[in-house]
Amino acid sequence: MLEYRGYDIRDLAKKSSYEEVAYLLLYGELPKKYELDDFKMELTERRELPPQIIGLLTQLPPYTHPMVVLRTSISYLGSLDKKIDIKTREENLEKAKNFIAKFPTIIAYYHRIRTGQNLVPPKFELNHAANFLYMLHGEEPSKTAEQALDMDLILHAEHELNASTFAARIAASTLADMYACIVAATGTLMGPLHGGASQEVMNMLREVATPRRADEYVRKKLERGEKVMGFGHRVYKNVIDPRTELLRELAKKLASEGDPNWFEISEAIAKSAYKYKKLLPNVDFYSASVYENLRIPDDLFINIFAMGRVAGWSAHIIEQYENNKLIRPRAKYTGEIDKEYKPLSERD
Ligand code: ACO
Repeated sequence: MLEYRGYDIRDLAKKSSYEEVAYLLLYGELPKKYELDDFKMELTERRELPPQIIGLLTQLPPYTHPMVVLRTSISYLGSLDKKIDIKTREENLEKAKNFIAKFPTIIAYYHRIRTGQNLVPPKFELNHAANFLYMLHGEEPSKTAEQALDMDLILHAEHELNASTFAARIAASTLADMYACIVAATGTLMGPLHGGASQEVMNMLREVATPRRADEYVRKKLERGEKVMGFGHRVYKNVIDPRTELLRELAKKLASEGDPNWFEISEAIAKSAYKYKKLLPNVDFYSASVYENLRIPDDLFINIFAMGRVAGWSAHIIEQYENNKLIRPRAKYTGEIDKEYKPLSERD
């Protein structure tokens, strides 16, 4: 079972919204109706980007990976914040709301710019998930698409000390500013063994192309000693990641209303991965077919993860600041010791 601040993620995924979960993570309690309304309003007001950031998005080469764009933009946002070093609770929450609100706009604007399309400004009336899809595609999403992304963001919002959150906490423990902490987290999330796996999963689904080729693909990959992306987890060793089941249901629903191919290939791969090596899919596996059915470009998959996880990162950073002790593990040196230093001229 996985819980966010004591609430089962299955309840949160099915009954709440991303904004409600972000509030829960930041403030520690579920909001009352008026608190949620205020919080949503605060996020909505913070969606637009400063002109300097839009300028940056137009200047970056169009082949820049959107995760590199995101972390560069976060750093730039930091340089524009005159209160960058202020770490009162109020100011930390202000920064967190800014990250949550602006991530979708950075991602959607960059995609529109690199593909030569007009920017679609945020729409006040739309919730967080729907507004992102609207800014990305230039049209309001269907109710199913909106709910699917909303649930996906909830499921990605938090997962205790995963690599990116740990990176954020290490940075926070040095009392680095919050932008630096989020940049550390964003850089860490990008690796293919962490959030980068979802993009790799989509590459795999495209390579396999049809369910009947899945078994041979998985068998050969494992025979070569290679990893099947989207499988395995440091925490969930012999049990299925609770998020995976919910994402599988979501992927199945979207497949029944859209293109079923990606879900069917995913199912065939999962069956073979279990048959040959008892491998279980992780949170990144079914995300790929969900995103594909939401018409999200492959190289934005990791950014969608970041869009959800930024609430968790921010909550962890604030928690670290408020009860801080420097995180500094020791390394165990395993080489030879007590060696004699010889001048350069005496070394052969
Ligand atoms: N494909 C093939 N074999 C795997 C996989 C995989 N995806 N994952 C684990 N294994 C195997 C290992 O090869 C190892 O087998 P062995 O005992 O025969 O050598 C065994 O399972 C144990 O694996 P470890 O690598 O020790 O597991 P670890 O906890 O170190 O790694 C990790 C976890 C990094 C997630 C790993 O499973 C992996 O690389 N998966 C693929 C990448 C991926 O999907 N990452 C996303 C993780 S979820 C997230 O970050 C949100």
